[in-house]
Amino acid sequence: MTESRKPLMAGNWKMNLNHFEATAHVQRMAFALTAEDYEACEVLVLTPFTDIRSVQVLIEGDKIGIKYGAQDVSEHDSGAYTGEVSGSMLAKLGCGYAVVGHSERRQYHGEDNSTVNRKALAALRHSLTPIIAFGESLQIRESGEQVAFVLGQVEQCLAGFTDEQARASVLAYEPIWAIGTGLTASPEDAQEVCAAVREWLVERFSAETAAAIRILYGGSMKAANAAELMAQPDIDGGLVGGASLDPDEFVTMVRYRLHAS
Ligand code: 13P
Repeated sequence: MTESRKPLMAGNWKMNLNHFEATAHVQRMAFALTAEDYEACEVLVLTPFTDIRSVQVLIEGDKIGIKYGAQDVSEHDSGAYTGEVSGSMLAKLGCGYAVVGHSERRQYHGEDNSTVNRKALAALRHSLTPIIAFGESLQIRESGEQVAFVLGQVEQCLAGFTDEQARASVLAYEPIWAIGTGLTASPEDAQEVCAAVREWLVERFSAETAAAIRILYGGSMKAANAAELMAQPDIDGGLVGGASLDPDEFVTMVRYRLHAS
């Protein structure tokens, strides 16, 4: 990871923690985190939609340095889309980020790369940073085709992006076989894919743009393995599921710099 890319530790709570629990959780993190922690690492929570207002009031009221965002965003800006939440609604609540293309959205809600592309562009229209997620299945990993597969995903997810739009985005490599399974990609395996993605960004955009874009790793990341993953040159942060539900563990992950061997 280079100096120009501030590390980002993002907790994806998925469908966990109601707004009461969310408030207590953020308070506990805020109590533990110091000015040095925020200086060294951007701290982000990606909460259920129903938590966002409570988290906003707490964070703004107490001037807490934790950032917050959503786990999804509609590709549409407004209209007859029952159940959807627009980028402008999220921006109005002070969200800075929205995940698009999480494998669980792809698997359970039929989202494909073109949906992800439209959602990322919708986020950007409303000045939200899309966290664009992608990653291969176990079958593809076992066939050894992971790099080609992931580059195909990234190409389609970023179709039509300008340099500026790419720089305003975060990428997240989450191998499906590592999500929620306890099977973390080895630092070398994660680095292989993240490095290939950055090389693709150099070709598609420019060396400067590629050097500015943060690439996160996600998949059974926890306090015990955060430092070795973060030590990889092309891994700039974590997209953390299960381990982010324990505020103490997540704070330890934000402090990975203190645990590097
Ligand atoms: P786990 O950390 O629970 O494996 O989940 C990863 C993930 O999907 C984050 O978006």
